[in-house]
Amino acid sequence: MRVLVIGSGAREHALLLALGRDPQVTGLIVAPGNAGTARVAEQHDVDITSGDAVVALAREVRADLVVIGPEVPLVLGVADAVRAAGIACFGPSKDAAQIEGSKAFAKEVMAAAGVRTAASEIIDNPANLDAALERFGPPAGDPAWVVKDDQLAAGKGVVVTADRDVARAHAAGLLESGHPVLLESFLDGPEVSLFCVVDGETVVPLLPAQDFKRVGEGDTGPNTGGMGAYAPLPWLSDDVYRQIVTQVAEPVAAEMVRRGSPFSGLLYVGLAITSKGPAVVEFNCRFGDPETQAVLALLESPLGQLLHAAATGTLADFIADSGELRWSDGAAVTVVLAAENYPGRPRVGDVVVGSEAEGVLHAGTARRDDGSVVSSGGRVLSVVGTGADLPAARAQVYEILRSIKLPGSHFRSDIGLVAAEGKISL
Ligand code: GLY
Repeated sequence: MRVLVIGSGAREHALLLALGRDPQVTGLIVAPGNAGTARVAEQHDVDITSGDAVVALAREVRADLVVIGPEVPLVLGVADAVRAAGIACFGPSKDAAQIEGSKAFAKEVMAAAGVRTAASEIIDNPANLDAALERFGPPAGDPAWVVKDDQLAAGKGVVVTADRDVARAHAAGLLESGHPVLLESFLDGPEVSLFCVVDGETVVPLLPAQDFKRVGEGDTGPNTGGMGAYAPLPWLSDDVYRQIVTQVAEPVAAEMVRRGSPFSGLLYVGLAITSKGPAVVEFNCRFGDPETQAVLALLESPLGQLLHAAATGTLADFIADSGELRWSDGAAVTVVLAAENYPGRPRVGDVVVGSEAEGVLHAGTARRDDGSVVSSGGRVLSVVGTGADLPAARAQVYEILRSIKLPGSHFRSDIGLVAAEGKISL
């Protein structure tokens, strides 16, 4: 099977490595990729937002399966174009991708499916903003305001703050740029990212992970696209894991079928485990970044066959034939090395030294004609460590990071630390 992966981040680099371990995968192609993915796959350029361009490339490289990594092409309907061309595609239709593309749509689906989530209100008229802010956040009972961009924002559209002026400024800015705002009540409790491979009503959950969205140590500073992640979660019981599958993922998949827009692809369930049980923070319509880098590092089952089964509506048969997914024992941790000033406008064009070491996945990198690797984006690398347990995986990832040099770069030194110390309890 020849697999074309669309995207250019560390998530796509991790997908390529895991696909490459599947004995049925005979060819790997990536577009547009980065300096790291070029070492593991045949690399092409493509406009990822154009269904026609992706179909033309898939035909040119004789792809049997197209895997679409990022949300933007999915929300624009690129998976529909690939399927219409008769090529198997892992990624939801434009209609189903609304689960990420519109938070208001996701709330409607959850209400219909009876899934717990934060109370919320959509504001699209600035005249209603102040009254709405009064109904959310302190002193109404929550410790913070949660202000979200209703539309795609690469993880940076969310502000959680106890400062009303900050909440108001973020909401007003979004409204001024024509984006409706979602105000939500704050969900307290440790967060979980659970990725589920979904084909209609069949849901196959992967290992649970936790990501770290704030830029600074101790979860401080602005939100980013993600600064690190670990998997699995030693503090999450099997019971709560099963609850997430049976009370969230399966009812949502069934509701999407009922609405006539069945979900086929990766349903990313982001939750907070509150004192009243799991409650959904967000859904995404694709593999999460950076959690994928940790989760796939532990996958032993053949990823190409799994994704192909979902893409061709045969996921239930795949699981019936091959059994539950198989995972390595132990833990994986990924830590993002970010460019100076990220998540603001990043400094780019600096030479990265040590980026070809084992466990180093590339995101914002490019290769110069002289062969050197230079930074070309905010999140530059995603380094993965594995080990018998979380402390061992942490030790490995930070050892690899010590060997990498990028002027002005920064990373968090506390990814997975609280869990490794056994300090997360439900
Ligand atoms: N890790 C957050 C995301 O992928 O959206």
